[in-house]
Amino acid sequence: MNVSQASFLICSLLLSSACSQAETSTNSHHTDSGIEVSDQTDTLRVDALRDDVLRVRLYPLGHPAEDASWAVLPQARTAHIAVTSSDDGFKTSALAVHIGSDLKLTVTDLAGHILQSDAAPIARDGAGFHINKIKSPEDHFFGLGDKPGPLDRAGESFVMWNTDNFGWQESTDPIYKSIPFFLEMHEGRTLGVLFDNTFRTWFDFGHERTDRYTFGAPGGPVDYYLLYGPEPKHVVETYAWLTGPTPLPPLWALGYQQSRYSYTPRARLEEVAARLRADQIPTDVLWLDIDFQEKNRPFTVDPQTFPDFPGLIHKMTAEHFHTIVITDLHIAHLPNQGYAPYDSGEAGDRFVKLHGQEYVGTVWPGPSVFPDFTQKSTRDWWGTLYKQFDADGVAGFWNDMNEPAVFTYPTKTMPDDVQHRIDEPGFVKRTAPHTEIHNVYGMENSRATWDGQLALRPNVRPFVMTRASYAGGQRYASTWTGDNSSTWNHLRQTTPQLLNLGLSGFAMSGADVGGFAGSPSPALLTSWLMLSAFQPIDRDHSAKGTRDHEPWVDGPEQEAIRRRYIEERYRLMPYLYTTAEETSRDGLPIVRPLFLEFPHATSDNHPLDSDAPGEFFFGPSILVAASPSPDEVAPYEVHLPQGIWYDYWTGEKLDRRVAVGARDLEIRDAANNGPRPVMVQPKEGELPVYVKGGSIVPMAPLVQSTEERPVGPLTLRVFPGDNCEGTVYQDDGVSYDFRKGSFFRQHFTCSVAADGAVTVSMAKPEGSFRPWWTSLRIELVGRKTSGTEKTGRNQPITATPLGSAVTVTNAESVTFPVAAN
Ligand code: NOJ
Repeated sequence: MNVSQASFLICSLLLSSACSQAETSTNSHHTDSGIEVSDQTDTLRVDALRDDVLRVRLYPLGHPAEDASWAVLPQARTAHIAVTSSDDGFKTSALAVHIGSDLKLTVTDLAGHILQSDAAPIARDGAGFHINKIKSPEDHFFGLGDKPGPLDRAGESFVMWNTDNFGWQESTDPIYKSIPFFLEMHEGRTLGVLFDNTFRTWFDFGHERTDRYTFGAPGGPVDYYLLYGPEPKHVVETYAWLTGPTPLPPLWALGYQQSRYSYTPRARLEEVAARLRADQIPTDVLWLDIDFQEKNRPFTVDPQTFPDFPGLIHKMTAEHFHTIVITDLHIAHLPNQGYAPYDSGEAGDRFVKLHGQEYVGTVWPGPSVFPDFTQKSTRDWWGTLYKQFDADGVAGFWNDMNEPAVFTYPTKTMPDDVQHRIDEPGFVKRTAPHTEIHNVYGMENSRATWDGQLALRPNVRPFVMTRASYAGGQRYASTWTGDNSSTWNHLRQTTPQLLNLGLSGFAMSGADVGGFAGSPSPALLTSWLMLSAFQPIDRDHSAKGTRDHEPWVDGPEQEAIRRRYIEERYRLMPYLYTTAEETSRDGLPIVRPLFLEFPHATSDNHPLDSDAPGEFFFGPSILVAASPSPDEVAPYEVHLPQGIWYDYWTGEKLDRRVAVGARDLEIRDAANNGPRPVMVQPKEGELPVYVKGGSIVPMAPLVQSTEERPVGPLTLRVFPGDNCEGTVYQDDGVSYDFRKGSFFRQHFTCSVAADGAVTVSMAKPEGSFRPWWTSLRIELVGRKTSGTEKTGRNQPITATPLGSAVTVTNAESVTFPVAAN
């Protein structure tokens, strides 16, 4: 059977709209890992990189596009498996590929469920093209980085063009990043799509036509990857395999961070630092924005306002603060004026060109030039610029304005015909227009910074924060959502933005706490500091001319609430760090939508998040349930997936199991979807947080900075339930010695006996690192005690606000007998 005949068969399996095109004759060629099918003008090539990962490319007949990528790791891109040929495609152990008439592609699982199907052939338009896929009304779409709007992208359309969009709002598009990766959920099955094209790509998830979703580009290759779940978690893990996971950050980067545009002069930074310590607001990081520089020139320090800069950094370090400084990429255009970054860059021909001359655009320092980051040699040169800051003890670096932002033009960036040189292992050496490089420029800037740190201090984990990036950029930098606003709506927006960033690979992310543009009311700033305690990066930052944002600015009552939440984050640091370490191996984000943990929480497989837009998981066990309308005082619904839950603050148990039978009626919601929502009445200073039954959460005694050694035992807070387990991970927090075995990892489980006695078991620790604790305090949530009880091994059981606890050293297990009452 030839491909045209086979396509007739597959047409009969599909919606008629998918098969309305006239058939044309095609030639197919099976390869070891897939198939190539050509018509008169094009070749469609599909390769299986793994059983659950396909790469799809279309190129003009006889002219394969260059096989290179800024996003995809070379080892993943060149992986392949042997497939089983079929008449119209091939099979792997998970997927079946069918290529029909007009090179239309259909991918199914082995049971024949259609996972993705072309609605029309790829349409070319000059150098551009449109890819058309069938969409059903029940399809859901997630990802695309931190683009504003709801978590589910269905019905929306987007453009990828990194843009400095100060004061962006919910409907603003594009903003700073281009992460052309999304997950499509169809009838409970999830497929990930990475469209690896760096041009100004666009995505339409049913905005123009409700029965289609489309993506395309004005140039560059037709090159996309399909990542099959069926569970969304598996897709996210596979995306980390394809583009690399977010690396383990230094421990201090998970602490509270205080920033402002700008703390200046030096005395103001010292004043803020002293107040943070005096008021006992646990803090790890202070940020210096552009005004610490001389005339806004990157890699300088203003000697008038910041005298003895090394002395300042040293003092901050001694007070257990890490200082991060901004190092924008625009280099002041100052020929022959003794400005070393320009002089050395010019001597090495490091800057991008327009019509053969260094391109000069205006940014903070005035006329500026822009490094040609797509050359490895230029990135290496950029890395050397950090030598002095590094020697001064600066702990991390901030790459802002790297869309790149240029003030002079309405486009807010450099002209399309600026030329970039690609001189890079794995790429053909060539010159590329800005239209091709724009979206990867910021990522390559942060890569240069990251690699530069590693070159200077090979055994220290770098910390880089970037504003612009592309798919895979999580390998080099954490990120934030840019210039948000001090409004309740922006507070609400941070949740879907950070969730979609996490699904798109960026696990280390934050939003300016309190909002950047404008001045938050006391209540808004407090609510923001409460929520951000449960986000990966907790950085309070504000724009020039706005009112101060530090936790104390609204008086002792507000400060007390703010402090309490920051303290809770520090108590949860072992849990947060353990989660971040798991992320660095499996790619699962630190904050997660509910559907990632509970993809089938509703009877029709729609994501539970649509009913609960303020909710998210902080790590695998903790569910934060902020109000979907945070400025309203009316009660709101909290949707908990079925199972056992505990109130994080009170320990109260909520049984949300859906039984089959009479109890079922009480607990199901009217639509029979699952457990009825819990009604919550918002109260000042209260953020509802729940813990999944079956979790063991490691917690630490309070410290004022992660540089302090906690005093006392590690607490294991045990929330009994099915599959009860937890882990703690520790290492020195800064180096790569964990790669040589210098880490500590211990796994815990708990079980409930028939009589109700609960046993917590501690597995043998892995690794050679000795953590700060020498004993464990095992706290059983919900269990009452008289205060005089003992375990079978004579350990005293003491009462705690949430239940009861025993403290043990070197025990393999602890059994809490049934409480007598
Ligand atoms: C723009 C950034 O988004 C903002 O966070 C920063 O404060 C200003 N640039 C000044 O550097």
